[in-house]
Amino acid sequence: MLLQGRRGLVFGVANDKSIAWAIARRAVEQGAHVGLSYGDERLERRARPLAESIGAPLLRCDVNDDAQIDAAFEAFGAPIDFVVHSLAYAERDDLTGRFVDTSRAGFRTALEVSAFSFVALARRAVARMNDGGSLLTLSYYGAEKAVPGYGVMGPAKAALEASVRYLAAELGPQGVRVNAVSAGPIKTLAAAGIPGFREMLRQAASVAPLRRGVTAEEVADAALFLLSDLGRAVTGEVLHVDGGYHVLGGAAGGEGEG
Ligand SMILES: NC(=O)c1ccc[n+]([C@@H]2O[C@H](COP(=O)([O-])OP(=O)(O)OC[C@H]3O[C@@H](n4cnc5c(N)ncnc54)[C@H](O)[C@@H]3O)[C@@H](O)[C@H]2O)c1
Repeated sequence: MLLQGRRGLVFGVANDKSIAWAIARRAVEQGAHVGLSYGDERLERRARPLAESIGAPLLRCDVNDDAQIDAAFEAFGAPIDFVVHSLAYAERDDLTGRFVDTSRAGFRTALEVSAFSFVALARRAVARMNDGGSLLTLSYYGAEKAVPGYGVMGPAKAALEASVRYLAAELGPQGVRVNAVSAGPIKTLAAAGIPGFREMLRQAASVAPLRRGVTAEEVADAALFLLSDLGRAVTGEVLHVDGGYHVLGGAAGGEGEG
């Protein structure tokens, strides 16, 4: 049991397709006590049975609200060994339009919800970590390259990945590791908001070196490595779980050969 006796909070459960849910389930299977957090009251109906099925307390937390973040950490209690940040948001208009037309408010929203919130959660977590710990977030290739349809989420994920490095450098001396998993496209609620997502999914699966897409369970396995002692010497890392898609150069715009 890789997480026996560890306590961790997992943020970003919307439904049973959520990457957060796959990670929470895997952590519980490996002996962790997990608190599950959802962002929007409309999601409670779906999140509650999931939480109950793994014996996890369910905590509402809109990461735009400091009081709700504090309340979630208070409710879960200390100590904390790990936190998973599996959430992001951008206004639909800022994903469907041209990137150059991104509004000031839309840019701020995407960066605040998708990147700053990781820093806000890290601050609360570290104050409750007795003996080191592991912080993990979820990113995407659009942080590194301009991916059609990803719009303002690209710069938001770039800020998130830079935050991973800054947090890792700062918190390492306390034994706190900070990493990201950069996942290939997976059909989830958040993904449904990305224009051309189906095409993204199809293209990634056809050209990725492994010639297939990835699943939330495969992302959860990589997360388990980073959350547990298996990853004890790894920090500041962005681990790609994308069938190798990110190593491609010119082929990323083309098609595979079967
Ligand atoms: N699905 C993919 O293809 C894919 C690929 C790479 C990375 N990711 C990343 O994985 C993470 C999880 O997304 P997912 O695909 O599981 O989709 P999802 O829709 O299941 O999860 C996204 C979560 O973000 C939450 N959220 C949005 N705004 C919030 C707020 N203000 N406060 C609290 N929570 C808020 C939503 O409630 C939802 O639970 C995101 O960071 C996403 O960018 C997804």
